[in-house]
Amino acid sequence: MIRKDDNVQLDEISEEGLVSEDGVVPGGVTDVSPDRDEFLADVLAGLKNPQKSVPAKYLYDRKGSRLFDRICGLDEYYPTRTEIEIMQDYVHEMADVLGRGCVIVEYGSGSSTKTPILLDALESPAAYVPVDICMEHLTEAAEELSRDYPGIAVHPICADFTQDFDVPSFAPHERRRVAYFPGSTIGNFPPAKAVACLQSMADLVGPGGGVLIGVDLKKDPAILEPAYDDCEGVTRDFTMNLLTRMNRELGSDFRPDAFRFKSFWNETDGRIEMHIESCCEQTVRINGCVTSFKESETIHTESSHKFSLSQFAEIAASANLNVDRVWSDDKNLFSVQYLTVVNGSC
Ligand code: AVJ
Repeated sequence: MIRKDDNVQLDEISEEGLVSEDGVVPGGVTDVSPDRDEFLADVLAGLKNPQKSVPAKYLYDRKGSRLFDRICGLDEYYPTRTEIEIMQDYVHEMADVLGRGCVIVEYGSGSSTKTPILLDALESPAAYVPVDICMEHLTEAAEELSRDYPGIAVHPICADFTQDFDVPSFAPHERRRVAYFPGSTIGNFPPAKAVACLQSMADLVGPGGGVLIGVDLKKDPAILEPAYDDCEGVTRDFTMNLLTRMNRELGSDFRPDAFRFKSFWNETDGRIEMHIESCCEQTVRINGCVTSFKESETIHTESSHKFSLSQFAEIAASANLNVDRVWSDDKNLFSVQYLTVVNGSC
């Protein structure tokens, strides 16, 4: 792996036309993220459901992304530190199975905090493609990474990764594409959507490609519940920020103090659910549409599914992916898995 401190000559790499002087692909960030109209349409559609809901991706505006970074550092929130520990302990095994000349496409890259662990261990990675829905977060992280890794082409894409986006070819350096999907963000999706999401990753990396993914494991609800309802109230602020965002961007008139945060373990569906609950009977206007809430009626903002290893292997198999390796911590709280595209399928 080449880092800035190694003081290497970059002329060779730049001549390929892959990287500009600052390491960011000429032309900057590709932006295919949802616009205001799409946000409005998604909110209005979600609030028409019997169980009102808003897609979790809208939690990540600038403020939401910052609050999520704070969640990652909370004592109660075990996933981030456990995944980092697994990465640090086994990254050389991961680098061995990924091989040299990888193009790493990171889904929901956010602050890209786990990425350097991987990039440091990989042999001659060809490119790093962070994909995130929050432009500010994405560009900040991409700039920092291209400064630290001048030998790697960094090509940020601002997108909702559940929608199609294009990754350029990084030939002739590219040997294998790997979708990197840390954080157990896969747990945001109900099983059928998780399969669809993995399928699109399998399509993107193609035959010979792989998926390196963080998968949170089933555990005692006494550990899970505080992780999603911390005593400082950061998870609450992160969730309730959605109301402020809707008011600002959609001109709605949600009264944040007339709603409260609710989080619980749903044993039947094997997931933590996060909701915004109405404290009273009330109506809210969004772009001229009136939505009414009964007392205690909720907007479901997010789910965080937890998996057993066999359950996740089944989901992967439905997406034509084979679980090649599983790395875990000694308490089996979390796992990092390498999935490979099953040959001969389409
Ligand atoms: C970003 C989806 C992985 O489910 O643990 C954490 C989101 N929301 N606390 C998770 C989240 C509130 C997080 N993911």
